[in-house]
Amino acid sequence: MSAQIIDGKDIARRKQDHIGKEVQKLKGEGMTPGLAVILAGDNTASKTYVSNKQKTCRKLGMYSLLVELPESVSEAELISRIGQLNEDPAIHGILVQLPLPAHINEKVIIETISPEKDVDGFHPINVGRVMTGQDAFIPCTPFGIMEMLDSIEADVSGKHVVVVGRSNIVGKPSGQLFLNKNATVTYCHSKTADLIEHTKRADILVAAVGKAGLITESHVKDGAIVIDVGMNRNQEGKLCGDVDFQAVKEKAGYITPVPGGVGPMTITMLMENTLKAAKSVSKKG
Ligand code: GUN
Repeated sequence: MSAQIIDGKDIARRKQDHIGKEVQKLKGEGMTPGLAVILAGDNTASKTYVSNKQKTCRKLGMYSLLVELPESVSEAELISRIGQLNEDPAIHGILVQLPLPAHINEKVIIETISPEKDVDGFHPINVGRVMTGQDAFIPCTPFGIMEMLDSIEADVSGKHVVVVGRSNIVGKPSGQLFLNKNATVTYCHSKTADLIEHTKRADILVAAVGKAGLITESHVKDGAIVIDVGMNRNQEGKLCGDVDFQAVKEKAGYITPVPGGVGPMTITMLMENTLKAAKSVSKKG
């Protein structure tokens, strides 16, 4: 039996329709949600991501501000720009596109963003709020993964979730969200002794490593839910995930494709977080 495909594009479209309507309501009350994206340097992939974020913002009726800075920008200049955006009432969400130029300390920059405008959910205050189960900005990719699981009405409680990858952006927060939903969570990473021993016991397997073909059918339990966060190029230059999709889809119960899986969800949850930031200002009056 072939797995059911979790269509991220379709889920994202429906979610965006809803966000667009909420934006119109806020606009009716005189508020336009605004997102500022800071892009330092000229990383080609970052430029594409940022351009897609801006397009989606505009499509949903939000205000989008791009702050482009040269590769040579100083840490002090970047901190000063973020300070201005923290004070700007037209801006509700601030996102600093990563990676930053090598001479800039990423941690310092992230901590400069006001936690109430931190729509990436990377500030330690938001990380701590997620960890302690408080209301917080949830990092967009893990947030998108949870939405996809909701869309198939997956019952996470008591399930064994194996997360492969321990990045601050995806792996770590994904595991935390599953734990918050009462799953039993295993983290695997590059130092894990026997990856397959863990992954083949997963009811839900999240692959977030960045290595094409890492997860084969032998890594997967019959009927498992497989979430592929990988964004790689294969030898032919085609976009592919961390999972050998063709083989694994014959064994899994559900699987997310690449492209058209987690990717469209990430950007959608960024819009959701920006809307949330705007709404919380609107409530305060
Ligand atoms: N670079 C790769 N993914 C992300 C992300 O989710 N947010 C930011 N700010 N930079 C990234």
